[in-house]
Order: sequence, then structure tokens, then C-alpha cells
Amino acid sequence: MTEDFLPILGTDHIEFYVGNAKQSTHFYQHAFGYKLIAYSGPETGQKDKVSYVLEQGKIRLVLTTGLFENSDITSHVNKHGDGVKVLALWVNDAEKSFEETVTRGAEPVTSPYTISDKFGEVKLSSIHTYGETIHTFVERKNYNGLFMPGYEKRESQFQIEPIGLKYIDHCVGNVGWGEMDKWAEFYQNVLGFKLLLTFDDKDISTEYTALMSKVVTNGNGYIKFPINEPAKGKKKSQIEEYLEFYNGPGVQHIAVATGNILFTVSELRKRGVDFLYVPDTYYEDVLDRVGSIDEELEDLKKLNILVDRDDEGYLLQIFTKPVQDRPTVFYEIIQRKGAKSFGKGNFQALFESIEREQAQRGNL
Ligand code: FE2
Repeated sequence: MTEDFLPILGTDHIEFYVGNAKQSTHFYQHAFGYKLIAYSGPETGQKDKVSYVLEQGKIRLVLTTGLFENSDITSHVNKHGDGVKVLALWVNDAEKSFEETVTRGAEPVTSPYTISDKFGEVKLSSIHTYGETIHTFVERKNYNGLFMPGYEKRESQFQIEPIGLKYIDHCVGNVGWGEMDKWAEFYQNVLGFKLLLTFDDKDISTEYTALMSKVVTNGNGYIKFPINEPAKGKKKSQIEEYLEFYNGPGVQHIAVATGNILFTVSELRKRGVDFLYVPDTYYEDVLDRVGSIDEELEDLKKLNILVDRDDEGYLLQIFTKPVQDRPTVFYEIIQRKGAKSFGKGNFQALFESIEREQAQRGNL
């Protein structure tokens, strides 16, 4: 076996550029149960932007807003709406990660640099991926502060009730027509990932619309990136709708893992989070398809949670509606009970659900 030239310890954080980080922070605290842990902004010497850091389990989100018109962040939000700017990867060596990937053809964003405070130092470097999304390599082995130099401690101002979110399971990118292979190859050739799965338009299509997808994963399997592209159908694919409203490629959904999806989803519903709807008929024959499961079917049906099975076990999953006004980024909540796949058996039901929503927006 060849040596992994880009060992990744996990997802370090996901940074969103948003129009109003203060209000988004409230949403993620109240609805998703994230705790606010750190802040950077004018009060900490950061004059032109604010960032809030939220945490639950091993998941860290950073919500950033530009304060002035003439700002890359403000332009990003103007073009894309609220969306993911940085998929940050936790590594042991940010310099080597940068050199290895740039040598293999990655387009650099920021050469390696070090920031430090009284808690130690963090080394960072960044490369481009699809659209205006970037990967930042974060080396924090010599740091024991809360998040990163430049941030100060900031705690939630009300009692946060976590909902059992544990870690990022996978992050899905939508890319343009005919670009899926290019980006799947980018992850294989430039980051040393492996191709895990391929879905073609026969796997993922309805009467009207279709998509194709390839899933790439890093050496230890901690990072999984499915890459979608639109496929020809009678009507506009959900990926095309995304590309139109995001103005190009970007992160489509983030799947977060829970150890108890019944608890997680009932809490999310109580707190007002909207989910894609699958009709009751889905539950009539689901057990014929997936066999016996530990959960009561009635409980799954009540919460509209989907089930799928592969050779290694089964999984439970559900998808939120987009979490901003543009039909772009959404979340998946997933509980794996052995299964390592992505819910292929649910694609049909989900697609039909997404198309109902698209039609209501007048985009089908
Ligand atoms: Fe997913």
C-alpha cells in the first residue's frame, strides 16, 4: 500500500459566509442546539468582519459576516446567498498538506502561515475546490485554546439544549454540467482520495429529473465527499435549480451523525426546523425492502424518518428543507447502524419530495 500523502484527522470546522451572522448564530443555537464558544470581530481587533464559533459533539461551525460593502465576504453573500465557504480539514502538518496538494495541481488560496496567542500556535493553508469553495488545512497540535488565535471566549446567553449531533458524516458538493468526473478526479489525484461509489442517472431519476453522483473518501474514511452533477430529464433537475440560485457550484448538503435519530428529529421538529416530506405510502412497504429494524415503524412514520439497508447494516436518515431563502444548502440527519452507504433506496422518494418543493417555487 502506498503511503497516504495527505493524512486527515477529521473535519476541523465548516465556515459559512452569511448575511447576518448574529441571527444565524441564534438559529443554530436554538434550533440545532449548538453552543456558542468563541467570537472574533471589532471588539477583538478584527475590524472588517465578525465570526461566531459554534460547537456540538465534534462538529464546529463558524458563521462569518463582512461588515463593509467592499469585502470578499459581502460579495460572496451577494452572489451565493448564505453558503459554505470553507470545508476545513484537520491535519498534522498544514505546510506539507499544502505542498503535496499544490504539487499535484491544487490551486493555492493561501500559502502556509502561523498565527499565535498565549495558548500556542495554529498553522493554516488553503486551496481551491469546486466553485468558490475552499479547503483550509488546520494544524493545531501546538494549540490548546478554544478555537484559534484571534478569537475570544463567548458563551451562549441562554440555556442550550443539545440534540445529540456527533460529527460530520459527509459533505456533498453540486458541480456544473459534465464536471462531476473532473472533481472526482481532483480529489483522487490531488488529495489522494479514493472513489467509493458511483450513482448514474438510472439510480437517481424520476420521470422528470435526474442527477449523477460520485463519492470520494480519504485514506482513513473520515472524510466523504459525494459530488453531484445534473443529468438530462424532462424538466429542470434539483441540481440545476441549486446552481442557478447559488450562481455556480457549491456545498449542497451537510450530513451530521446522531446516535439517536428519534430524539434528534423530534427535538428539531419541536424547535421549528422544516423537513422534506415523504408520503405515508413510503412506510407501507419499507420493511419489505429493509427487513427488520430496532425502531418502531410508527415512530419513524410520525417523524417522517427514512430507512435504507446495504450489505453491512442499515441507516436512518432525514433531510431538512434549505436553511436559507435560496433553495441551496440543507442538512441531512443520519444514524448509521452498520450501513456505510448513503440511502440509495430512498433516492426515488426523496427526489419526488424535492420536486414537489421545486414545483411550488415555480422552478420545475
Ligand atoms: Fe447525504
